[in-house]
Amino acid sequence: MAMHQLGFLLLMLLIVSSTGEEDCINSIFNFGDDISDTGNYVILNPSITDKSPTASPSPRPHITWDELNSTSETVDFDSILHGFTRGNRTYGDVHTLPYGITYFKKPSGRFSNGRLIIDFMADALGLPFLPPYLAGLKPEDYKKGSNFAVIGATVLDHDHIQADPSTLPSVPSSSITTPVAAPSPAATSLRVQMEWFKTLLPSLCSNTTTTECQQFLRTSLFHVGGIGGYDYSLDKSHAELQDMVPYVVDTITLAVNELISLGAVELMIAGLLPIGCFPRAQNNYFWTHEYDRNGCVTELNEIARYHNTQLQISLQRLREQYPHVNIIYVDYYDAAMHLINSRLEHGFTNNKDRLSTTCCQAKGLDILLYEAHTESCEAINVCEKPESYILWDQTQMTEAAYEIIASSVVAGNFTTPSFNILPKKCSS
Ligand SMILES: *[C@@H]1O[C@H](CO)[C@@H](O)[C@H](O)[C@H]1NC(C)=O
Ligand SMILES: *[C@@H]1O[C@H](CO)[C@@H](O)[C@H](O)[C@H]1NC(C)=O
Ligand SMILES: *[C@@H]1O[C@H](CO)[C@@H](O)[C@H](O)[C@H]1NC(C)=O
Ligand SMILES: *[C@@H]1O[C@H](CO)[C@@H](O)[C@H](O)[C@H]1NC(C)=O
Repeated sequence: MAMHQLGFLLLMLLIVSSTGEEDCINSIFNFGDDISDTGNYVILNPSITDKSPTASPSPRPHITWDELNSTSETVDFDSILHGFTRGNRTYGDVHTLPYGITYFKKPSGRFSNGRLIIDFMADALGLPFLPPYLAGLKPEDYKKGSNFAVIGATVLDHDHIQADPSTLPSVPSSSITTPVAAPSPAATSLRVQMEWFKTLLPSLCSNTTTTECQQFLRTSLFHVGGIGGYDYSLDKSHAELQDMVPYVVDTITLAVNELISLGAVELMIAGLLPIGCFPRAQNNYFWTHEYDRNGCVTELNEIARYHNTQLQISLQRLREQYPHVNIIYVDYYDAAMHLINSRLEHGFTNNKDRLSTTCCQAKGLDILLYEAHTESCEAINVCEKPESYILWDQTQMTEAAYEIIASSVVAGNFTTPSFNILPKKCSS
């Protein structure tokens, strides 16, 4: 075949494969932590013994995926929302109401009162909410996507670091002086989530040819992050946190690299939220007392911005390496800051003066006594109008806040290069 004919054929192939319905997004695969877990944590920890001093020692309700996803819930959420259960201490964590109260009307495994950004994204693409990988569904139930995110997940694999530091990805000579303390089971780190994906993939492609499998991956959206908030633990100084950033960023980059080598071509990689703006940070980071005009811990937001800048530099290198791949950076930091700074326009009236006022609160001093659940809130302390608060609890935003962030990101705002996912919705 003459060279120009071959060239023409290649061009036709490129045109055919880069336009048209076949390239709409048919599925989403998500990796991350609290911000996007849709049930893995609860499936992994089906019941948790209440550690509060006044509670009875009985374990909490045992929750399975079927229960999470069932629609036959008969909980009287109105009475909880209006505080009628006062006197019955319902400990809020994702296992119990008030988590899920606004949209799902029951606990849904999500660390908020309703839908998360990833839910709104799936919805915008006409796809179902992502089923958690750990639900162990049949492969065909994951054809439209799967969620690997787990509440509390870190990027770094802590056991790994402690066992053999030489196996860390190479980074500029920098010093991590102390091993990172694991705030959560290391068994859910980004590397583990990647392993889960690699375990699932062959079964998703089991009935397809290699070409069909590649096409399946080409029409999947991979969303990673924002993850890393739990790597930057609050008992570390600003300098220690800063030293960790290259490790965290490199590990995210390695995961993205691996997804690309598996065949991913549409990737959205999210940066960190302004971690200094959450009450968890304000209450637990004792290294500084510098706050910005919104009451956010300046040093922690600096770490988030530094992480995000380094991540973007790293992603730019990947773009140069893989020009055919769509590597989108999603700026949740700026999206959240934009929301915070225009909070009154968006009806977040209960945060008019203080950003840190949350809809659902833990009960005063108990915060100091809880061992594992300082971040959750209690049903008896839930507000009546969650939509007028930015923050749901110590660490999470409300569904109302997530919806605003999601709709701007879906429309292409806060994405680099700008990426409007709506035209990628499949028509049927
Ligand atoms: C969850 O429940 C909905 C509604 O009952 C159902 O359509 C869907 O298939 C279920 N999802 C999974 C993954 O079981
Ligand atoms: C506490 O819970 C029990 C059992 O669900 C219920 O009968 C009782 O009315 C509740 N008490 C209050 C004060 O809501
Ligand atoms: C592959 O085909 C088998 C037999 O028809 C079916 O049971 C299975 O669900 C299919 N797998 C996927 C991922 O669609
Ligand atoms: C996206 O940004 C533009 C310019 O700031 C703004 O006018 C528009 O309302 C934003 N879109 C969404 C959906 O937030």
